[in-house]
Amino acid sequence: MIQYEPWRIRCEGREDPKFLESIFSQSNGYLGSRCTFFMDGAKAYERCNYLAGGFDYISPGVTDMVNLPDLFHFQLSLGTGEYQSFTQTLDMRNGLFERKSVWKDKEGRETQIDISRFISMDNKHVSALSLELTALNYSGNAAVFMGIDGKTVNLPVDDDQTKENLDTVSLLSVSETETGEGYCFLKAGSKASSRLHVAMTARIFQNQGTAKDASTPDCPAKELNIPLLEGEKVRIEKILYTEAVLVDSETFPQGGQDLRPHVINRSFAELLKDSEGAWKSRWDQADIEITQKGNDSTIQSALRYNLFQLIQNCPFEDATVSIGARGLTHGRYKGCCFWDTDIFLLPFYLYTDPQAARNLILFRLNTLPDAKKNAKALNLPGARYPWMCAIGGIEQCQSWDIGRCEIHITADVAYAVDNYLKVSGDETLDSQSAQLYVETARYWAGRFSYDQRKDVYNLLFVKGPDEYCGVSGNNAYTVLLARHNLRLALQAVQRKKAAAKASEMKTWRDIIEKSRIEYDSDRDLYIQDDNFLRLEAFPGQKAGDGSAAYHQYDFDWLQRYQVLKQADLVLLMVLKPELFTDREQKAIWDFYEPLTLHDSSLSFGIHAWAAAYLGLEQKACEYFDKSLFLDLENRMKNTGREGIHLAAAGATWQSVVFGFAGLALGTDGKPELSPKLPKDWERLSFHFYIKGKRYLAVIDGEGGKIEAEED
Ligand code: BGC
Repeated sequence: MIQYEPWRIRCEGREDPKFLESIFSQSNGYLGSRCTFFMDGAKAYERCNYLAGGFDYISPGVTDMVNLPDLFHFQLSLGTGEYQSFTQTLDMRNGLFERKSVWKDKEGRETQIDISRFISMDNKHVSALSLELTALNYSGNAAVFMGIDGKTVNLPVDDDQTKENLDTVSLLSVSETETGEGYCFLKAGSKASSRLHVAMTARIFQNQGTAKDASTPDCPAKELNIPLLEGEKVRIEKILYTEAVLVDSETFPQGGQDLRPHVINRSFAELLKDSEGAWKSRWDQADIEITQKGNDSTIQSALRYNLFQLIQNCPFEDATVSIGARGLTHGRYKGCCFWDTDIFLLPFYLYTDPQAARNLILFRLNTLPDAKKNAKALNLPGARYPWMCAIGGIEQCQSWDIGRCEIHITADVAYAVDNYLKVSGDETLDSQSAQLYVETARYWAGRFSYDQRKDVYNLLFVKGPDEYCGVSGNNAYTVLLARHNLRLALQAVQRKKAAAKASEMKTWRDIIEKSRIEYDSDRDLYIQDDNFLRLEAFPGQKAGDGSAAYHQYDFDWLQRYQVLKQADLVLLMVLKPELFTDREQKAIWDFYEPLTLHDSSLSFGIHAWAAAYLGLEQKACEYFDKSLFLDLENRMKNTGREGIHLAAAGATWQSVVFGFAGLALGTDGKPELSPKLPKDWERLSFHFYIKGKRYLAVIDGEGGKIEAEED
């Protein structure tokens, strides 16, 4: 359905509108908007516009992303009829969405309707819409209603808290509206705790016709009366300035009192040019060029789309927010952030935009006090990172098996911090990181159970990354990463970056030495957890349409069989290859890969990386294809219903850079390549940063080369 050009994706026709609303969603990491239009009949909860970190409560302790007034709100009345043609395009160089269509009414009058919109990468507050109308075979009039609609409600989404959620809730209340010469203004605040205040000013400009105030309650607007002369194009522009204040008692002292109308007196074209300039700098850092044999640009285009989503959903300059599992493209998981950010997304930013990565790490470092509160709430010492979080680092996941037991997140965070420090060379976060290692080590010391009879430490009642394993004991991924976390804490204390008691350190060492993992020495195989070998062979059959097995089978049933939802030990094998011998790595792949259903979007890209790492080219290419096109081809059948799967995009990047190019840090801390280029790729090249230095990697038929760039 999607057509691919090196820098653009295009779609003809209007099938599966929900899917396309996700695919063409736009953002700049501060504001995000699904590609929906009021003129198409999109409901108040379907026109989703979000602010990074723009959460408030829907019930005590449970947050949701507040759906903002619709940035691109307008209505156009051209009488009943139907579309003759309909094309949507996204230009990834500048984030411009264009929709060109011809509408034919019952009398046979044809009007060309061209809509363009973007959210500025140059000025995070700015977004712009242009509407061009051309009467193709008649002269007449068009009425356009354009304003700011504050009557939005939240998108009800089924999730871990609410299995079937059809309830819309109005989270925003409009406090002020105003219309003046050529502009409309609206100010609103979130209802529950008045945490979010937002002000929007729309400058509305048209090159023909008249405008009058047409405001309705909570919707300041203009009605434009536009004369249409056959063959002549008329143009209307809406330039929007959005400003928000988040009132968090500690971080932001004041409310939204100072928010006033802010009219931007610049044109769509000028603002787009600025945005394109900012996009260019981002692409200079992050682009990957692939030359395929036969000059097919499909993979190039699809890969850019994955990078485009990673770039546009990153709150580059802000360390007070992180990135939700679907970024700002959908309200799935109520906008919460998971380990997706630390393990799947962070590497992309770390190697292409270290400052953005620094902010993501700072988010974890700064929410250490919340992590301590989470541990305390669970009667444990130290700091325990939340499986899901929205405001700060307070746990949002309410389910027991996932929220309480999927505790690898804490070790994932420590791993990510260490990864960041090693790759960036940033020493300014050393002490804060050391504190995080020590507090999380204290948590692990409390969380492991000592079995005196056998003199071992068990990690009981845990769920690993494979969420089909139920709640079991000694999940190897979690235990091995927890040991890494404990080692980081010991090193931090030894380097005198943090303090800990000798008795605490002894416990940490004991856990490293005596924590139990099931291992089959005949097969050199790490066993996923204590239960795994007791489970029966999976008798089920996954539906052939790509949708996850948990839609057919209950989790309770799934947990009794040897079947994996997603990469578990396979993931650890690529994150920490030094923990395993070559034989062990091969054993992990041979045993677990055939048992994995890939029912999480996080799985394919990691399997592509692992297969490339093990030299299994065909498997690597198959998994890469699945990850690369996961959203673009709606492979899991939920892109429309759930938004863009950012972790899959991050894993796709990792499969190219760490898998096919084999980029890794050598023992001397210098970058090295061990290329495993697919046969039909002629050349692969990309830039990356290590310790503040920029490099260019080029891989072709001759092998791989890294060049350091001049400062
Ligand atoms: C996956 C988790 C992931 C979450 C958010 C779940 O389906 O199993 O690993 O963190 O989605 O992407």
